[in-house]
Amino acid sequence: MRLHGSNTIGKELALAVCEDFLKHEGATSVQRKPREKENETDIEANLPNESGEPLTFEVQAHGTKTAFEDMAAGKCDIGMASRQITSDEAQKCALAGLGDMFSSACESVLGLDGIAVFVNRSNPINELTKKQIADIFSGGITDWSQVGGRPGPNSLVLGPRPLSAQASRYENSAKLSDEVAADPNGIGFAGMAFVRGSKPLAISDAGTRPLLPTPFTVATGDYPLSRRLLLYVPADPKNKWSRKFIEFALSSLGGGSKLTPTGFFARMSIESARSKLEVFSWWTSGGEAAALDALFNTYQKQYPGTGILNATIAGGAGFAARPALHARLTAGNPPDTWQSHPGWELLDQYVEPNYCEPITDLYQSEGWDKVLPKALVDMITRDGKTYAVLTGVHRGNVLWYNKKLLAKNGIKIGNKMTFGEFFAACDKLKAAGMPALGVGDSGIWASAHLFENTLLGVIGPQGWTDLFSGKMKWDDPKVKQAMQYFAKMQDYLNPDHAALTWDQAVKELMEGKVGFTSMGDWADGEFIKAHMKEKEDFGWVSYPGTDGSFIIVADGFTLAKGAPHKAATVAWLKSIGSKEGQEAFNPLKGSIPARTDVDKSKFDGYHRWSMTEFAKDRLLPSCVHGEAAPAAFQTALNNALRSFIVDKNVENFANGLVQASEKTDQETIGRLDFIGQKIRMEKPEIPQSAPSQFVKEVSGAGKLSLCFHFRPGVIQLDDKALRDLDSLVELLANPTYHQRRLLVFGFSDNAGDAGRNLALSKDRAKAVAEQLQMRGITPSLVNGYGKDLPVAPNNNEDGREQNRRVEVWLR
Ligand code: GAL
Repeated sequence: MRLHGSNTIGKELALAVCEDFLKHEGATSVQRKPREKENETDIEANLPNESGEPLTFEVQAHGTKTAFEDMAAGKCDIGMASRQITSDEAQKCALAGLGDMFSSACESVLGLDGIAVFVNRSNPINELTKKQIADIFSGGITDWSQVGGRPGPNSLVLGPRPLSAQASRYENSAKLSDEVAADPNGIGFAGMAFVRGSKPLAISDAGTRPLLPTPFTVATGDYPLSRRLLLYVPADPKNKWSRKFIEFALSSLGGGSKLTPTGFFARMSIESARSKLEVFSWWTSGGEAAALDALFNTYQKQYPGTGILNATIAGGAGFAARPALHARLTAGNPPDTWQSHPGWELLDQYVEPNYCEPITDLYQSEGWDKVLPKALVDMITRDGKTYAVLTGVHRGNVLWYNKKLLAKNGIKIGNKMTFGEFFAACDKLKAAGMPALGVGDSGIWASAHLFENTLLGVIGPQGWTDLFSGKMKWDDPKVKQAMQYFAKMQDYLNPDHAALTWDQAVKELMEGKVGFTSMGDWADGEFIKAHMKEKEDFGWVSYPGTDGSFIIVADGFTLAKGAPHKAATVAWLKSIGSKEGQEAFNPLKGSIPARTDVDKSKFDGYHRWSMTEFAKDRLLPSCVHGEAAPAAFQTALNNALRSFIVDKNVENFANGLVQASEKTDQETIGRLDFIGQKIRMEKPEIPQSAPSQFVKEVSGAGKLSLCFHFRPGVIQLDDKALRDLDSLVELLANPTYHQRRLLVFGFSDNAGDAGRNLALSKDRAKAVAEQLQMRGITPSLVNGYGKDLPVAPNNNEDGREQNRRVEVWLR
């Protein structure tokens, strides 16, 4: 069954309804499978009465226009629309023999939706009239000061009808909202379910009271920007599920004629999607999705009645998911729990900026401290606090091969392999006219993964430790040797490698198109999913030269600070760490359980091999998967590798990495604790008496050690303050801080009138913000708290001077 059209409906609501429908029809398993292309998802289900083939519901959310185009072209069975069909569109459908689209047989109102207009949270504007909105989006109003805001051009994110040339259109409403949340001057509009980290405005129309979009104001029709959400089917649908599905959708959302004209219920359903535990990951390949599903099933069995929002973003190794996650975290809109690698990725990107809640207690209460290897727990622990629970441990350094193909070409693989043996095998396959080595590096990380394995194969485990601790340099002759090997391998690659994903490369191996592929053992998940037989259809060996070493690529899940569903998240984490969870997930994923007390009979030969290796090998962190080095170096490696694949210039590659590692070292120091900088980051205790608004505003932020002081009654910055400002600007010029939000707070002493002091404190903060803005830095928040929160006694001039200050915080 194919549903095409509106992004507002198709992004989440339709997916949730499809899943509920299939379960209602008695499906034994329901799996959500995002496609490579954004906004396209398949829901696959096994229905007991069906032919054994899984039933697929295809949801494509590329906009309402496509609903009618695709219906007329016979490309979909149900059209999803966030506006009524136009006469033109209806005529085309009629000509295609679909009947009268305006008739009740074809058109159903699913609900009402409010179009939210939203701005950045730091924008002081709270309300606009419909006319102002029209003027902004058509380009008539281009500066916020024209609608009473602070000066600055409004960067338009999306606009209606005569759209300003400055505006950009987004198919993905969530992305649009996240961009506004990150752009202090941004404004956009989308369905009200997509407000996320930005700030919705109250809207008024010709003298009416400004109203925010809420289920209530939309349901009553009072909110001026309400619209209907509709479903369309041909009068005589070809697909047998169409009518049944629509009936279900309308009844489960309380829709149908009962609903018209108020569609409160459809909104409620989106709200209920929000009331589910949101699990964020990049597990979308066949094996990954099956394993994730097993984890979900275990969780729902252990905690019946719990709902899950499976928030996946496709792209191996998380190359697309991590930036999206980052945008959400900086916008203060975290998923409840997200996938993270241990080491640098978890501790530096998520724990350090305070996005994670420690879960140390669970290690005692669940007894994990007794069944998890210390080496693993150390990788997710900082200052005695543990921040994740691991689903399992992948081995990165594996070479997979097509057993039958190699046998056919007279290639035998022993228990280990040297580079000499590997290249000899490659030559044989090349001579037989086929590419020896399959890579799918449409995400460059897959090539980086091959390079990482080659590097370990040459420099060995001690070299690995020396390299990532700075003792060995990236231009060491051994490192260059590895680079040469990697360059040589390019001559044996599948010609379509740059167009493939990692799992498509594994598929080429299964199909006998290539002999080898070097990939972490999530590849085993693909073999299992495809029912390939180990040691018959495929085999494996430690990547050449790496026998005795185990590159750990572990996956963990976190607890978000401020998780919208904290209790459910804690239950989810408990479930992951439970024996059942680990035994359900890992056999399908290719990883070995992090727990050591699992029932080994539940695991196949590959897993048992990996468990034995894990117990005896040197365990090493992966750089490509975020554990051994900061993200900045990971990115530098990917970029350098892109050039190296083209020019094969070893000197350039080595020098580039030397520079990147030196630069990363400096940035790392700055980022971690600001050592050696004039300015440090502090985490002061917030006093009990602090205004709740202030507590909210600084949550998750750190205070910079510099402070701007002012003479009594004055808002101008003196010379010292201007010098300090320059140091601050210098610090913030470091790219490490570009993604952070800058918060500026003014304070006063307690001398004189409280109201005046409050105004003075706000003006002082504004003065600092203006100076920063003149230097190209725009704070996300500027506020003043008058005489509140004194840092010194107000009974002497010294103390009063300390209290007349502006503080700068970073989140
Ligand atoms: C790794 C992750 C694995 C696997 C792989 C490919 O980074 O740890 O679980 O999903 O990416 O997507």
